[in-house]
Amino acid sequence: MKTLFDEIEIAGMKLKNRFIRSATFDGFSDEHGCPTPSLYAIYEDLARGGVGTIITGLTSVSNTEQLMGRQMAIHDDSFIPGYRIMTDAAHRCGAAIIMQLACHGSQYREDAGVKPIWGPSTVEDIAYKKTAQEMSREEIARMREDFANGAFRAKQAGFDSVQLHAAHGYLLSKFLTPYYNQRSDEYGGSIENRGRALFETYQAVREKVGPDYPVLIKINCEDFMEQGMTFEECRCVCARLAELGIDAIEVSGGSFSSRPNESPARKEEGYFRWHADQLARELPVPVIVVGGNRDYETMTNLIRESAIIAVSLSRPLIRECALIERWKGEDRSRALCVSCNKCFNPKGTSCVFNRE
Ligand SMILES: Cc1cc2nc3c(=O)[nH]c(=O)nc-3n(C[C@H](O)[C@H](O)[C@H](O)COP(=O)(O)O)c2cc1C
Repeated sequence: MKTLFDEIEIAGMKLKNRFIRSATFDGFSDEHGCPTPSLYAIYEDLARGGVGTIITGLTSVSNTEQLMGRQMAIHDDSFIPGYRIMTDAAHRCGAAIIMQLACHGSQYREDAGVKPIWGPSTVEDIAYKKTAQEMSREEIARMREDFANGAFRAKQAGFDSVQLHAAHGYLLSKFLTPYYNQRSDEYGGSIENRGRALFETYQAVREKVGPDYPVLIKINCEDFMEQGMTFEECRCVCARLAELGIDAIEVSGGSFSSRPNESPARKEEGYFRWHADQLARELPVPVIVVGGNRDYETMTNLIRESAIIAVSLSRPLIRECALIERWKGEDRSRALCVSCNKCFNPKGTSCVFNRE
């Protein structure tokens, strides 16, 4: 019978259990995006805390974008030795480590200065109120190359894999969303066209890192907004990525542009499990689910009853970096409350903060 502590394999990566720390921005890099001792400490603590795989916070691949306050970056070879310290620490503690690669586009709060805010079309971001500059074909080609070079550097720095961030309204995700992608060229319109920037980026990455290096993606199952990408469209994108050779898909959903009452977030445990399971059943690719995974028993049932291979967690591991070690022992009480993400709510009774 499947358990959360089974060793699993994804594209040749041996993962010591089915727990993944999903990408979590922590803001502990220096002002240039270089990792710092504080960042190493976070990753080492996570790895010691028992999680099988750690996905880094979103890491900027492009120096044409302004960094988001103390975000990690990998747009230059000079970053490689610093990340080597991080990957060595994770490996010493028995965890695999994956770098999440991203361009943020219009999801940017600060003043971008002279640097452009990229987007598929000139549309104001609903949440961030920044108006993107429509990317030319040359700029899309530059983005592809930036992702490919970032992936190559991550490989050189000892990361076991890279994950393309195509979820939550960041730049690759924006191309998939009709509200933000209003192009009339081959990068806009049908879902095949809106997926093109992502498919080409994946192919550029694959060419650069070779056929055997695992490349993952994080994608929204739905955008949960007016003129957002639908689940049917997500299925088309994932099917194409599977044909192209993607090694695993992490299923998330929504963005800061989502309508709060439409997103299933905060309503139940494992809130994208239905979508993730559908994808896992129809695609020849391992599928991971993230979002509201809190309770050991619920996740065990999820792994047993669905075709999902692994579960990702972010906030529970911010709160308790050694959660997985704890669960390995006797104490399997819940991580965090799915409703408020603050109280421990061990018995699954109603949340102490969000009483309805
Ligand atoms: C502080 C914080 C930072 C995050 N940073 C990222 C990120 O860099 N990349 C990403 O894909 N998701 C990011 N997320 C989203 C998480 O990876 C995850 O999808 C989401 O929090 C749902 O999982 P959870 O319920 O276990 O927290 C972040 C979430 C939090 C709370």
